[in-house]
Amino acid sequence: MASAPAYDNFIDGAWVPAASGERFENRNPADGSDLIGTFPRSAEADVERAVASARRAYDGWRLTPAPRRAEILYRAGQILTERKEQYARDMTREMGKVLKETRGDVQEAIDTGFYAAGEGRRLSGQTVPAELPNKFAMSVRAPLGVCAMITPWNFPMAIPSWKIFPALVCGNTAVIKPATDTPLSVVNFVTALMDAGLPAGVLNLVMGGGSGVGTPLLRHPDVRLVSFTGSTEVGRQIAIGCAESYKKCSLEMGGKNAMILLDDADLDLAVEAATWGAFGTTGQRCTATSRVIVDRKVAGGFTERIVERAKALKVGNGLEDSVEMGPCISDAQRRTVASYVEVGLKEGARLAAGGHLLTGGSHDRGWFFEPTVFADVKPGMRIATEEIFGPVLSIIPVDGLDEAIRVANSVEYGLSGAIFTRDINKAFRAMRDVDVGIFYVNSSTIGAEVQLPFGGVKRTGNGHREAGTTVLDIFTEWKSVYVDFSGRLQKAQIDRSD
Ligand code: UN1
Repeated sequence: MASAPAYDNFIDGAWVPAASGERFENRNPADGSDLIGTFPRSAEADVERAVASARRAYDGWRLTPAPRRAEILYRAGQILTERKEQYARDMTREMGKVLKETRGDVQEAIDTGFYAAGEGRRLSGQTVPAELPNKFAMSVRAPLGVCAMITPWNFPMAIPSWKIFPALVCGNTAVIKPATDTPLSVVNFVTALMDAGLPAGVLNLVMGGGSGVGTPLLRHPDVRLVSFTGSTEVGRQIAIGCAESYKKCSLEMGGKNAMILLDDADLDLAVEAATWGAFGTTGQRCTATSRVIVDRKVAGGFTERIVERAKALKVGNGLEDSVEMGPCISDAQRRTVASYVEVGLKEGARLAAGGHLLTGGSHDRGWFFEPTVFADVKPGMRIATEEIFGPVLSIIPVDGLDEAIRVANSVEYGLSGAIFTRDINKAFRAMRDVDVGIFYVNSSTIGAEVQLPFGGVKRTGNGHREAGTTVLDIFTEWKSVYVDFSGRLQKAQIDRSD
């Protein structure tokens, strides 16, 4: 413990410990003896300071021309590019996913930085004709003020970047509370922005738990918006808290994403995609493929091949090049996964691969779980409808496209979906009828790019979309402006000759 670095909150341009002096540990989920560092266990007093600092910085930042704000974001993107390897390694150490994936996570933050920086010279509104003579009508985007961000551990830098970069380019200031499992990646992200020249107070980082930091942020009268990514249940509580204090609220929550596999599909490609979709990030993505809804005619062949792939996956410490799948984020998460295996067995699904904690040798050091496949799953089973957030795939046989779409839509989530087919007509029908926010044809349910909206329907979201230009609607309010240069009082709807 003595030799592990002690990290601090970032408030008003300075690194400061929690007012209480309390700290929590961050350990490598692949190796519990690897202490990454200690981080401040913050509470209401720290939130107060951070929000006050963001509030003080707001006018200066809001009035900085957007192209100037954007230049700082662009520089941050460049700095992240230079530090990509180091930040990816830090992330694998604290989060567990393999290096290839953490490089992708940092890359997603870089992409978002460059994309948001481009918005600095757009942030477009509308100009429309006025109904009265000598009158000008337009709409402009206005920032909100202090925004709070509460982010998860599965994309420790990408998801914070989806929120922070657009919020800042729009002229807001921010306070971020990262997940306690992955605070270092946000320390790194904030450091990049600081080194890029972000003025003090524009972005503040407060680390700690939900009750210590999240709740005070939610209740704070000076916070205008809460942007949250995480579980559906916590999202619901955040929505209630935001309603009580009249805050804007953007939520990105659970998923139970399905890949539809038709009998005419390229089976090799589908097996490849399902392996990546189900076991990439140890299944701990909101976009993970957790159901394959497969035409009965090819169900046997597909099951056989994915089982072979699942059994052959090398599971271990993600810092090792040959490792393909890392650990679960925590013991608690691993226990949840194990309990779902019990549920699946009780429900009568056939366990075709995995299903156990991975132990022995170096696996004893971390929270490893076998890549798991359930076959002959019925659509209504809990393993086919509830988000597990672990390396568990359910294979659900159906008869044809219509049933596949019905089953795909039978869950309460609607984040991403996919279809594998060579029939263009069927692909277009699925594209139209599967009720999700992101859809793929002949590709896995994961792999969203930053220039299109990211988010989902039903219990996945509350109508907002991150990424793309749609994220600007989260972090700005529309202001409609009428300029009357007629020199007289003109009355809309009333001054007309008929
Ligand atoms: C998430 O699953 O929480 O599309 C985010 C993807 C990534 C982002 C995933 N680009 O899978």
